[in-house]
Amino acid sequence: MDIRVLHPSDIPHVQQTNITNLPENYFCKYYLYHALSWPQLSYVAVDVSRPKKTPYDAPKIVGYVLAKMEEDPADGIQHGHITSLSVMRTHRRLGLAEKLMRQSQRAMFETYNAVYVSLHVRVSNVAALALYRDTLGFEVKGIEAKYYADGEDAYSMHRDLGYLREEALDDSDDEDTAGQDEGGEVGSAGKAADGANGLKKERKRKVRVGRQLGVGELVERNESTKATQTNGAP
Ligand code: ACO
Repeated sequence: MDIRVLHPSDIPHVQQTNITNLPENYFCKYYLYHALSWPQLSYVAVDVSRPKKTPYDAPKIVGYVLAKMEEDPADGIQHGHITSLSVMRTHRRLGLAEKLMRQSQRAMFETYNAVYVSLHVRVSNVAALALYRDTLGFEVKGIEAKYYADGEDAYSMHRDLGYLREEALDDSDDEDTAGQDEGGEVGSAGKAADGANGLKKERKRKVRVGRQLGVGELVERNESTKATQTNGAP
């Protein structure tokens, strides 16, 4: 299985996967808008187990995540949004959705400095809820009544991406420490020298400060109308 960034040429296949798995469907141009505006954020899972017979064979797309950055965040905090996620029935419980989500979240943080990621999910969607809450650590921020076109309510969920910032800081700390070691004496001679000069330093830990720690009021934009407007893909 190959997980890679969504290319515009994948869109008809992603659209097919979406129509097969979800009642929220979108026009081709809505996928294209995602792929062209935030090309780093949407991913596909491609089944590469069966080699292509000709170079013109379509990739076998068995899952996708369609994601974007919120363009005008109501809370003023830079964040990403998962527009749609699905995996074909034949390829479920293989960890594909989890991988697609993690890739997209990382790209939101690394490319756009997203502070958190948001999404909506049907209150009855047990599988997706387990994935978001238990596996990926999302929290329910509220319920949006009649969010979907058929009248079902949605959970509005968030996942803070601070853990990725922590990871990045840990990596840079490791690099700093590795840099300090360069050129020093090694083995017992090195230890003795450190001891003699009192060079044994405590590892410093960076902490987050500033705007990310603020808690703004969450006002989600209702996209159900958008979904309905864009509904009707072939
Ligand atoms: N029941 C309970 N828990 C589940 C289920 C399930 N049916 N499916 C996944 N999980 C949880 C489990 O904790 C699982 O870990 P485990 O297999 O080690 O127990 C974890 O999620 C990771 O599962 P994955 O294998 O990564 O999930 P999968 O690739 O099967 O895809 C998905 C899950 C996307 C929800 C799939 O079932 C699907 O496509 N459903 C239909 C479409 C859909 O509901 N999409 C989400 C809509 S919300 C939105 O788009 C923002």
